[in-house]
Amino acid sequence: MTNFDHLFSSYAIRLNSPTFNRPVDLSNKLKIISFAGGLPDPSVFPVNEIAEISQLVLQTNKTKSLQYSQSEGALSLRENLQVFMKEDGVSINADQLMITTSSKQGLDILSRLFINPNDIVFTEKTTYTGAIQVFKSYAAEICGVPMDGDGIDTEQLERMIKKYVQQRRSIKFIYIIPDFQNPTGITLSLERRKRIIQIAERYNLILIEDSPYRQLRYEGVSQPSLIELDSDRVISINSFSKILAPGFRIGWIAGPKHLIKKAILAKRLIDICAPPLNQCILSEFLKRGSLQSHLKKLISGYKIKRDLMLECLAKDLRCIEGVNWARPHGGMYIWLVLPNFISCKHMLQEATQQGISYIPGNKFDPKETSFNAMRLCFSMQQTDQIVEGITILSKIIKSNIVRNVI
Ligand SMILES: Cc1ncc(COP(=O)(O)O)c(C=O)c1O
Repeated sequence: MTNFDHLFSSYAIRLNSPTFNRPVDLSNKLKIISFAGGLPDPSVFPVNEIAEISQLVLQTNKTKSLQYSQSEGALSLRENLQVFMKEDGVSINADQLMITTSSKQGLDILSRLFINPNDIVFTEKTTYTGAIQVFKSYAAEICGVPMDGDGIDTEQLERMIKKYVQQRRSIKFIYIIPDFQNPTGITLSLERRKRIIQIAERYNLILIEDSPYRQLRYEGVSQPSLIELDSDRVISINSFSKILAPGFRIGWIAGPKHLIKKAILAKRLIDICAPPLNQCILSEFLKRGSLQSHLKKLISGYKIKRDLMLECLAKDLRCIEGVNWARPHGGMYIWLVLPNFISCKHMLQEATQQGISYIPGNKFDPKETSFNAMRLCFSMQQTDQIVEGITILSKIIKSNIVRNVI
C-alpha cells in the first residue's frame, strides 16, 4: 500500500488525534445492551405515514423532489419550519432559515465561517462529542466552562472570557446546548439564559444554540430558547434527528439574515443542497401536523423509559457515597457520576464483557478528563433491557468501588 501521509493537509493530520476515535458504540452487536449511542427508538418511527407521503411526493412533485434544489432549502419546508418555530415563540422570516444536511453540518458550516486556527470557543465543560470534534478539526482551542444544576456557570464564563481578552486572544463564539443537555440532561435556567446573552453582547460574541432535544420534555415548563431572547446574536441549530428520524439527515439553522446568507454560500460549496426528496417529505409531514402527534407518542414512551431508568438506578445505587445523578426533565440521557477514584473509561472494558455499553465522561470533555462519569441513553433500549442493563451495570459499579476502596 502506497503511503500518502506526507500529502495530507493539516486538517487531515488533526483527524489522527485520539479526539477523533469513535466513542465505543456496540449497539449493533448481538447481546449488548447499549446505553451508548444517542439513538432514537426505531420502533416508534412513523414508517407507514412516511411511506405514504413519499409516494405522494414522488407522484405529485417529482421535479422538486428528484432535481437539484436551492442551497438555502425548499421554500415550502422553510415556511413550515417558520410555523413550527412560531409555535415555540420564535418569530423569524423564511430568509433567516437554511436547511442543512442535519445539525452536524450546521456545526461544520458555522465552524468554517468563524474559526481560524487557535481561536477560542467556549462550551459547557462537558458537551456533545461531535461538536468538540468539529471545533477541533478547525484547530479551535475549546474552553469548557463548569456547570451546575442550572447549566453553565455564567460567572466563571465571564471570568474566563476576561482572561482571554486580556491576553488578546481571538474569541469567536459560545456554544450552548440549553435544553436537556447532551450529555448531562441539564436545562439552562432562564436567569442564566439572559445572563449569557448579556455576556455575549458585552464581548461582542456569537451565541450558538444547539437544541435537538428541546421538544422532548417530560415535565416542567419550557424556557424561552436563546434565539427567542435575542434574534440578533443567536444562531440556532436544529434537527429532525431526535424528534423524528436521523436517517432523513435534515436539520436547519436559524439566525440573522446576513449570517444565513454567508452560510448558504458555504453550503453551496459543500453539497449544493440537503436531499430534496427528504425535504419534500418533511415539509408535507409538518404541513399535516403529523410531527406534533408523533412527538406526543415519543414523549409518552421516553418518559416511561426515563422514569424506569431512574427507578432502577435508585434501587441499586442510592446511598452509595460519591454516586449521584440528576433527574433530566427531558431529552434522552442520564449523567451518572461515580466516586472520583473510578475511571468509567477503564470500567467500560469490564462492562462490555458483561454485555453493557455506555459512553465514558471523558469523551464529552474538551480536555478529555471527567473520567468518573458516564452518559446513559434511555431512549433506544426497551424496558426489559433497561432493567436488566442497569442491574448488571450497578453490580459492576459496586464491585469497582469496593475493589478501589479496599
Ligand atoms: C447536541 C447535538 N447536536 C447535534 C447532534 C447531531 O445530530 P444530527 O446531525 O443527526 O442532527 C447531536 C447528536 O447526538 C447532538 O446531541
